[in-house]
Amino acid sequence: MLDQILKKSELTGDLTTEEIITLLELDDPEDLKRLYECAYQVKLQHVGRTAWFRGLVEFSNICSKDCYYCGIRRSNKEVQRFTLPEQNIIDSAVWSWNAGYGSAVLQSGERSDPEFVDMIERVLIEIKQKTNNELGITLCLGEQSEETYRRWFNAGAHRYLLRIETSNPELYKKLHPDDHSYSRRIECLDLLRRTGYQVGTGVMIGLPMQTNADLAGDLMFFKRQDIDMIGMGPYLFHSSTPLAQYRKEWEIPRERLLSLGLKMIALARIMMRDINIAATTALQALAGDGREQGLLAGANVIMPNTTDTEYRASYQLYENKPCIDENASMCRNCLSRRIERIGETPGFKEWGDSPHFAARQKTTQIIK
Ligand code: 5AD
Ligand code: FES
Repeated sequence: MLDQILKKSELTGDLTTEEIITLLELDDPEDLKRLYECAYQVKLQHVGRTAWFRGLVEFSNICSKDCYYCGIRRSNKEVQRFTLPEQNIIDSAVWSWNAGYGSAVLQSGERSDPEFVDMIERVLIEIKQKTNNELGITLCLGEQSEETYRRWFNAGAHRYLLRIETSNPELYKKLHPDDHSYSRRIECLDLLRRTGYQVGTGVMIGLPMQTNADLAGDLMFFKRQDIDMIGMGPYLFHSSTPLAQYRKEWEIPRERLLSLGLKMIALARIMMRDINIAATTALQALAGDGREQGLLAGANVIMPNTTDTEYRASYQLYENKPCIDENASMCRNCLSRRIERIGETPGFKEWGDSPHFAARQKTTQIIK
């Protein structure tokens, strides 16, 4: 039966909710291998074997949100808060450009005060100027107003990643305080799309109270939203957060959690063949070669950390975050080597947009 489902989906990209659940339940190593190989074939056909590099700058852990799972939530008094000096954020992005990365990702806790919005705008303009307009920029800065999204887009950002965290509104409610809104997230995804960004979203995998039916719903959600990129990864407990109380009852053993993350990547690739999918850092918290395994299961984007080492330890959304003691060039060289070792090509110099975005642009033009 497995072969039948895989053969059909490899050709068509179609999977029913029941089929997705069946595939998420696989745990025989041979079956898993077949699933990942099928996803890798789809990847080769639609996006090739290039792993696009994006230099990740995690520039501030100050956050106005209070999500129950996140280590840098507002109420966590145990974290030392920092914001990189403006020039330091710019330098990190310029470093990425000099290192041959086609784009950079700016990520931080969520803030929407005018000083922050202005600061990001200035940073974007200066990065573009200093990199000859060549460096692509992805933002990962949470929920903002339409005007803010527009200002940042006009200042030079062209991709935006905003995770839905879970597509199940009831589960979303359990993971967030009352003033955090699921429908506002959806609205923001629509605003981003309308503003002209390439839009990415994602979820956490293996959350307390999450079922395989929820995860199947997540994949269906991505497809329905016609998104261009996915950044999703395993949920990892952080002991100074409210969700830590569920650890005993809900913690999934590492190996199983890793394979759940890989199965989600593989299924996303099979269902949404031409989008960009990141092999996220959280995979590497579960296994030394977790990100390489992500690439072999269908991911095609990798985001080496380029933040200055002195700030890395304070940006821990989850425990066991890798690369805390490394610096930008160590991460670059290490990941390039790892990628070549598994027969993939590190993608430098180009933005590496998803073919899905290009196809979507064409369709919109025809409709217009
Ligand atoms: N484990 C894994 N991912 C997490 N995130 C936040 N906290 C955790 C955690 N404990 C993810 C969320 C958020 C992104 C920036 O990090 O999905 O959107
Ligand atoms: Fe919401 Fe960190 S507080 S993701």
